[in-house]
Amino acid sequence: MAFLAFPEGFQWGVATAAYQIEGAVREDGRGVTIWDTFVRQPGRVQNGDTGDVACDHYHRYREDIELMASLGIQTYRFSLAWSRIYPFGRGAVNEQGLAFYDRLIDALLEKNIQPAITLYHWDLPQALQDLGGWMNRETTDAFAAYAKTAFNRFGDRVTRWITLNEPIVFTEMGHRTGVMAPGIRDLGAYARAIHHALLAHGKAVRVFREGGYRGEIGITNANTYYEPADDSPETAAAVERARDFDTRLFHGPVFGRGYPATVVKHFAERGVPLPIEPGDMEVIATPTDFLGVNLYSRGLIQPANNSVGFTYAPPRLPLLPMGYEAAPHALGAFVRWVSREYDRPRIYITENGVCDNTEPDASGVIDDTTRQELLRGFLAGLHGAIADGCDVRGYYQWSLMDNFEWAFGYSKRFGIVYTDYRTLARIPKKSAELYAEIIRRNGVEV
Ligand code: BGC
Repeated sequence: MAFLAFPEGFQWGVATAAYQIEGAVREDGRGVTIWDTFVRQPGRVQNGDTGDVACDHYHRYREDIELMASLGIQTYRFSLAWSRIYPFGRGAVNEQGLAFYDRLIDALLEKNIQPAITLYHWDLPQALQDLGGWMNRETTDAFAAYAKTAFNRFGDRVTRWITLNEPIVFTEMGHRTGVMAPGIRDLGAYARAIHHALLAHGKAVRVFREGGYRGEIGITNANTYYEPADDSPETAAAVERARDFDTRLFHGPVFGRGYPATVVKHFAERGVPLPIEPGDMEVIATPTDFLGVNLYSRGLIQPANNSVGFTYAPPRLPLLPMGYEAAPHALGAFVRWVSREYDRPRIYITENGVCDNTEPDASGVIDDTTRQELLRGFLAGLHGAIADGCDVRGYYQWSLMDNFEWAFGYSKRFGIVYTDYRTLARIPKKSAELYAEIIRRNGVEV
């Protein structure tokens, strides 16, 4: 066994998102979101599950904060439900929504837990969707106005802001494959959503800079660490295409490199060009303070005769219940890659975690060994990347507790705390004990 110590001041946190945990979807003036609509469409979500109650965090947030405090959590990343603040996405502000997040933030600070806010974690107000949602350029202004309201109200106490969570997921899965809200399947819709999401990010960063708010702001992307299935030059080229169509598509514009030429061509050739207007790329490239990295797995890539020129090769590592590989090396490897590619940005791992559906044993103990093993592995890799000079300042485990896993409903458990969906009791798993020890020692035993 070796002990890997993390740098002094490294921050340890947990992450959640509003629709996945809050419940209380009709309370205190909250407006309807695209997920409220989507979950009610037959066949969209496994078992017909909805986020109507979820973990009932809206009413139990104090208990959840106690739980975090008992584990030694130092920072908590959560998202604001846009429709609690603007029930219709824009127009009249709902004071009760703002007041809920005031209470949450104050309760966190009382326990010395630093809040980190995600402005958008996929729950677009339905009223904006009715006008075209992310396909409509006007959504970018609505987002900037909402961001400004949030900065004004919470900026005295919150100093870490994330504009968007994983734009590739809500644009592609929401608009091209349609497996997530709003459930559209259209390449042109996808192209428009991509550009408008990034533009909304850039506009919010501008508002933050112009308002002179304290603290730091960045974007969180979803990442897969792409690796070649063999050593051939064709496969190496396919890996680069995978990076273009996923990683560079969202990082490139933010870091001032523009969209990858391969992707621009792909959309243009199909008659659905990215709807770029003069000045947009400058807005999107407004400098950020950090990069949020979410990573769960790797992708083994091989060339393919399809529209993008690559595909996944058959997996070689054990599979997790989500269908992707258990690949703990991917976190450190991706961080090294992204640091090299974009000149060593400040990084927070805004999400990393494991789907492990272990249930309580006869004595009520939840010994989620896969999660514990992979947590050590992910952190060992991250430690190596930091030792090599990558500027990683903190790590958020996804998630504090089992919650609504989007189209999978409640069938996939990502929490270090078990949620009993019948009683809504929270029961810390063995991985929560391990994480508490990692935090206490600021390092991991491997
Ligand atoms: C998302 C979370 C999700 C997690 C686990 C990330 O893509 O940001 O909302 O629950 O992965 O699948």
